[in-house]
Amino acid sequence: MGFHSRRQAVLAALRRPLVLFSGSALSRNYPANTFPFRADSNFLYFFERPEAGSAALFDPQDQTVTLFLPERTMADALWHGEVESFEAAKARHGVDRVLTVEALESHLASLAKGRQLDSVAVADFKATQRARAITGQDLQFDDPKKVGPGDVLDAIAALRLRKAPEELAEMRKTAVVTHEAHVAAMRASKPGVKEELLAGLVEGAFARSGCVQAYGTILSVRGEVLHNHDHGNTLQAGDVVLLDAGAENHAGYCSDVTRCWPVGGPFTPEGRDLYDLVLAAELHGIAQVKPGARYRDVHLSTCRVLAKGLVDLGLLSGTADALVESGAHAMFFPHGLGHQIGLDVHDLEAFGDRIHYPMGRQRSSQFGLAYLRMDLDLAEGMVFSIEPGLYFVPAILRNPEFRAKFKGQVNFDEAERYLAMNGGRGFGGIRIEDDVVCTASGAEVLTASIPKTRAELEALAGVGA
Ligand code: GLY
Ligand code: MN
Ligand code: MN
Repeated sequence: MGFHSRRQAVLAALRRPLVLFSGSALSRNYPANTFPFRADSNFLYFFERPEAGSAALFDPQDQTVTLFLPERTMADALWHGEVESFEAAKARHGVDRVLTVEALESHLASLAKGRQLDSVAVADFKATQRARAITGQDLQFDDPKKVGPGDVLDAIAALRLRKAPEELAEMRKTAVVTHEAHVAAMRASKPGVKEELLAGLVEGAFARSGCVQAYGTILSVRGEVLHNHDHGNTLQAGDVVLLDAGAENHAGYCSDVTRCWPVGGPFTPEGRDLYDLVLAAELHGIAQVKPGARYRDVHLSTCRVLAKGLVDLGLLSGTADALVESGAHAMFFPHGLGHQIGLDVHDLEAFGDRIHYPMGRQRSSQFGLAYLRMDLDLAEGMVFSIEPGLYFVPAILRNPEFRAKFKGQVNFDEAERYLAMNGGRGFGGIRIEDDVVCTASGAEVLTASIPKTRAELEALAGVGA
């Protein structure tokens, strides 16, 4: 489905005119010093290579799309180069008309003819303010209840949730770049090397292929810090490096991959057992993927694999069913199994649980399960992560309430042995994450080529460029 067909599809679902904003380049510090422009994901979904500062009106009454672009000035041409004319933009996008965004409000007044307009908030605060003024709606980007009218969010999500072949083709490209980045970091992981050097190799591999980080690179020997963006440690023999990094390409499609590998030799005996258990759980989760499977069930089934393995390692006691029922496993696996991936690395997360917990499903309040980001029935074309992990987090394992609640199920003394490793820094954590498409015949793992078996990782780690 090309961009034109996507716009036709949303026009067919809308009941009122919809104004979308691309957003602008956001400032880093002083106003003119900006981060690179990245269009809002909804805008990117409907327009190929959109311009900063543009807007679009989708009118379901006459089934037209109007694009609003910044006026072309000589100063812009001087500093930023010539951009395509309105005529060229109209032809390239195949829209019905192109008008100036500077006069957006007056154009909309004449096009809408008194009808209520809808919009969707974007990260660019000024664009969202404009959307609020135009629609009179209380739009707010960081509040899923206010990001846009529910029926509009549903209409957009219905399209974006299931990826078309050309979207999967973009995601396959980012998977290749992500492969290169992970392997570069693996090969360079020798004792004495700083984490920031590895992070630089990862981000350099992205840049060399015209990609950027889909999210802040997580690279750390402190794998228990789930979103650790600090790269200040120096690798030591016996450490495990956790790298959670994914590329985003020009089209805006992301990947999200985690691998872990040992430094200065093979995994320690504890590292080996934990790695093998997380890998078995990940493969189990992937094997459960098929159309109609409920993602929450895939999560819980994977939790039971982890729980059984933790019993075998002496960290939990009881049956897997009872441990997952009480939430004891979450002392070591405190997050959800995964999330949708697409134009957002947590795709459509800004739209909230109305998309990810449909049909009246509610998030659990139980520690661990509460972090499960989706409870969808899987359907062909959905792309999501499968990312189990095991972590030794002092704030969890030494929490007095958890110690009391799980006294009979968690062997906290054995957990202390892991917390004492690496000179008291603790074992850290292991996570393995792949990006999976649900197909008619089960899972297709987009990121399958990235080394994952323990033998591959032990052979690659530290071998050099
Ligand atoms: N990279 C963040 C996540 O895995 O969700
Ligand atoms: Mn993820
Ligand atoms: Mn990740």
